[in-house]
Amino acid sequence: MEEGVHVSSHPLVKHKLTLLRDINTNSTQFRQVVREISILLTYEATQNLQLDPKPVTTPMGEADGWVLRSRIGLVPILRAGLGMVNGVWEMMPGAEVWHIGLYRDERTLRPVEYYNKLPVEPTVQLCLILDPMLATGGSAVATTDLLKKWGATRIKYVGLIAAPEGIRAMRKAHPDVPLFLGAVDERLNEIGFIVPGLGDAGDRQFGTG
Ligand code: PRP
Repeated sequence: MEEGVHVSSHPLVKHKLTLLRDINTNSTQFRQVVREISILLTYEATQNLQLDPKPVTTPMGEADGWVLRSRIGLVPILRAGLGMVNGVWEMMPGAEVWHIGLYRDERTLRPVEYYNKLPVEPTVQLCLILDPMLATGGSAVATTDLLKKWGATRIKYVGLIAAPEGIRAMRKAHPDVPLFLGAVDERLNEIGFIVPGLGDAGDRQFGTG
């Protein structure tokens, strides 16, 4: 895989992705597994975060200690990205959460923005975009455009399953944004669904559709 595209090879991710894909996984289990894989992928995506030293006093004496240097923003793309937030947030409780609302027009497959409350100035140094599916890449590209216009300088994308088309679109539009993915599937079908994928990540999480 090319530079900037990280596809997890972790056995736990592979095991859990299998559960996620399974047509017999119900929506309670699906939400739980989305949460777990999101934590595992974010662990990989945050491996090179910078630290500042912060010595700590233990009951036995002084120890070296560290704190994260950057303020982190979690940017879930509504609605399917919502299920990726909570687990990641528990690992990084100091993170801010900035929601971006996009849906795909069913005919054109182009993203349509319907919610964005980013403040005027960036408040974080690193943005992690969270969205289970990278299909045509339209939503990821549009979200990255928005974040860059906002003034975000460091952005990473965390996604569960990607199509080659989506990876190409993101690498072309935003080669500076590394992608951290659970799996790369074969292709998109004629209505823009990832095959074999897992179906509609929004509907399966929220019990709709
Ligand atoms: C899905 C998915 C991504 C997007 C990916 O959302 O959650 O956001 O499609 O497709 P793309 O790469 O072609 O842009 P959808 O539009 O179905 O909305 P939902 O999350 O509200 O269900």
